[in-house]
Amino acid sequence: MHQDIESILYDQAAIAKVTEQLGAQITTDYAGKNPLVICVLKGAMLFMADLVRQIDTHLEMDFLDVSSYQGGIQSTGEVKIIKDLDTPLKDREVLIVEDIVDTGRTLNYLVDLFKYRQAKSVKICTLLNKPETRVVPVKADYVGFTVPNAFLVGYGLDYAEQYRNLPYIGILKSAIYQTK
Ligand code: PRP
Ligand code: MN
Ligand code: MG
Repeated sequence: MHQDIESILYDQAAIAKVTEQLGAQITTDYAGKNPLVICVLKGAMLFMADLVRQIDTHLEMDFLDVSSYQGGIQSTGEVKIIKDLDTPLKDREVLIVEDIVDTGRTLNYLVDLFKYRQAKSVKICTLLNKPETRVVPVKADYVGFTVPNAFLVGYGLDYAEQYRNLPYIGILKSAIYQTK
């Protein structure tokens, strides 16, 4: 698995540090608001698990499975809800947790959907932001790292469902996705 990685971009210590900083900021901003913190599966799973442990105030969690890449490296441009939320959003302070904002299609769609469901507020916390590849506008409120346009895997991010379990974020060797 590790031999497929060109280089490590953010190691476990760097991820932990930025997650602690984001958690502290969110704690301040959401104290007393009982936010609904929404994990966008599957990519955001690991970040969500670490982030909520750095948010030191009451909150609730929910999970939504949405996909636009469908296993390949190219975005189809289509956002599909595979598993919807269990929680009504009306009058809730919503914080969406993502691993990465790439074209912006996933979050653009979700922000509109959650506003349509009458959430009181909708904000975004993403570990990674890749502004170079944006196709539709998305403004993340909390960003861990701004990243270059490279194929990133690990810490939740996959290539063809692989590499999500890497404890770090790395750049995938191009030979891996060019030969498949
Ligand atoms: C990836 C990533 C984000 C989204 C970002 O998810 O986890 O959710 O793509 O891309 P976008 O800004 O172009 O929409 P994916 O759809 O691959 O599903 P996954 O989280 O299950 O891997
Ligand atoms: Mn995702
Ligand atoms: Mg994916």
